[in-house]
Amino acid sequence: MCGIVGAVAQRDVAEILVEGLRRLEYRGYDSAGVAVINDGELRTTRRVGKVQELSAALDDSPLVGGTGIAHTRWATHGEPSERNAHPHLSSGDIAVVHNGIIENHNKLREMLKGLGYAFTSDTDTEVICHLVHHELKSHDTLLTAVQATVKQLEGAYGTVVIDRTDSDRMIVARSGSPLVIGFGLGENFVASDQLALLPVTRSFAFLEEGDVAEVTRRTVSIFDIDGNAVEREVKESEVTHDAGDKGEYRHYMLKEIYEQPRAIAHTLEGRIASGTVLDSAFGENAAEFLKDIKHVQIIACGTSYHAGMAARYWLEDWAGVSCNVEIASEFRYRKSHMFPNSLLVTISQSGETADTLAALRLAKEMGYKATMTICNSPGSSLVRESDMAYMMKAGAEIGVASTKAFTVQLAGLLMLTAVVGRHNGMSEEMQAKITQSLQSMPAKVEQALGLDDAIAELAEDFADKHHALFLGRGDQYPIAMEGALKLKEISYIHAEAYASGELKHGPLALIDADMPVIVVAPNNELLEKLKSNVEEVRARGGLMYVFADVDAEFESDDTMKVIQVPHCDEFMAALIYTIPLQLLSYHVALIKGTDVDQPRNLAKSVTVE
Ligand code: M6R
Repeated sequence: MCGIVGAVAQRDVAEILVEGLRRLEYRGYDSAGVAVINDGELRTTRRVGKVQELSAALDDSPLVGGTGIAHTRWATHGEPSERNAHPHLSSGDIAVVHNGIIENHNKLREMLKGLGYAFTSDTDTEVICHLVHHELKSHDTLLTAVQATVKQLEGAYGTVVIDRTDSDRMIVARSGSPLVIGFGLGENFVASDQLALLPVTRSFAFLEEGDVAEVTRRTVSIFDIDGNAVEREVKESEVTHDAGDKGEYRHYMLKEIYEQPRAIAHTLEGRIASGTVLDSAFGENAAEFLKDIKHVQIIACGTSYHAGMAARYWLEDWAGVSCNVEIASEFRYRKSHMFPNSLLVTISQSGETADTLAALRLAKEMGYKATMTICNSPGSSLVRESDMAYMMKAGAEIGVASTKAFTVQLAGLLMLTAVVGRHNGMSEEMQAKITQSLQSMPAKVEQALGLDDAIAELAEDFADKHHALFLGRGDQYPIAMEGALKLKEISYIHAEAYASGELKHGPLALIDADMPVIVVAPNNELLEKLKSNVEEVRARGGLMYVFADVDAEFESDDTMKVIQVPHCDEFMAALIYTIPLQLLSYHVALIKGTDVDQPRNLAKSVTVE
């Protein structure tokens, strides 16, 4: 949530900052702003709306200067407006950008008002800049003033501070919201995601919780939570493709849907040998951690949670271990029971989701045998704080609606099933079936993408619809949930998913000609049961869209449109049936004319509670 970029350089930085914001826009897009120091003056430009609005304003009236900070906002405190947009200033001297939530901002605000500070916004952030300004009165340097400030903050922050009177440095502090320092030649940078800085550097150091850093053109000094000077490893970025470009596609979402065969193939590379998934896919010491695992507890949010729900069917059915799946925001605030020999698995595209991270930290305190993350972001907090990491190689996902991350998560979870199963006596034959299925996934996904045109036509039926129902059974139930989430997220059509056996326990009452019912129907042992549920809908005048296996013997008629999905085995069916549902939501959103990549009220990376 919220994107931050900062630079200390010898050249003008406004363009670098705005390009960085464009790349971070997925983190929030309510308003954007930039502040630059020029000739001892702080100059700011802020605009409501997307980075494009800010960029146009800067074209009309450029900002000159080599030290600056910039921000794209996802509103938490105060409506999206110019006065609430960052950077915030104190007395024209201090400028601050901030990501996170300062929970004791009301108390600090009252204290600062008492000291004579006037507030010009409704944000929690403004307390930070006035506090720094106040602390500078009793501290010699901006660094020590910021260190004294952050000691008074409760909540989460990633923040960057600059001082009008000292254009040589910026001070950066992290607690709960990620920040990465980018190293250049005679210039240095900071951002909330390395993606922002790829045009200017590929050398990065991630700040740890509680770190405060002083960044000048030639030096970076980092201090831990106790103020001790510390080194943080500088790494060359592993991000191989530059996600800033939509290429031939109209939207990032469509590009990312089409990238799935390559993303899955890339993720499998080097991780399967002789019909076996290698332990090393999950990190160096995975073999040691994974032996004796008898229970898996999966924690995630949103789309990642749906991937976990599908994996529960697999781990219990094929790997022979019990498995629970829970939404992170629930897990973290209740007393849960921990089974002996439990593995805690978090799933996250970003690796920075606040609730998932808090759940991981709680699980570590509870004493889980081992923790693992299935994650798409190298260097992220979940990766650094887990015992094991399965790195998805989906490449940066920019569309707010998660697509390729989800299918790569499913592929990773199937690999986990094979590995946990092997440690629990899964037969070689079963392992070989799973690995063959994994290896043929990219080609099968490619085939499923061939449904695109047919689905685009079908999507027109949804133009005037306000509700939709998704049905599935077994591991297709979470796929139905994911289909419903995609549709509501980007087309704003209200959609619900049900395990189809639940229909008669209530939702059947909703069925009429205005409620499209989308059914996912692979040819598995639940097919006949699903067919009965389809008849229940038909008998009540519902109009169905059935994504069915070519051998499932569904036929289109007045009450049902059947879309034939390429035949696939049980190990990959959940993943394959996801593809048409992604395409459906994309085409419905196109018809509805919504903002596909940046749907209203949402942000890609949810780093606040
Ligand atoms: O980065 P994460 O996978 O932890 O994010 C979890 C959810 O916020 C995310 O999947 C969200 O539900 C997506 N926007 C769904 O498309």
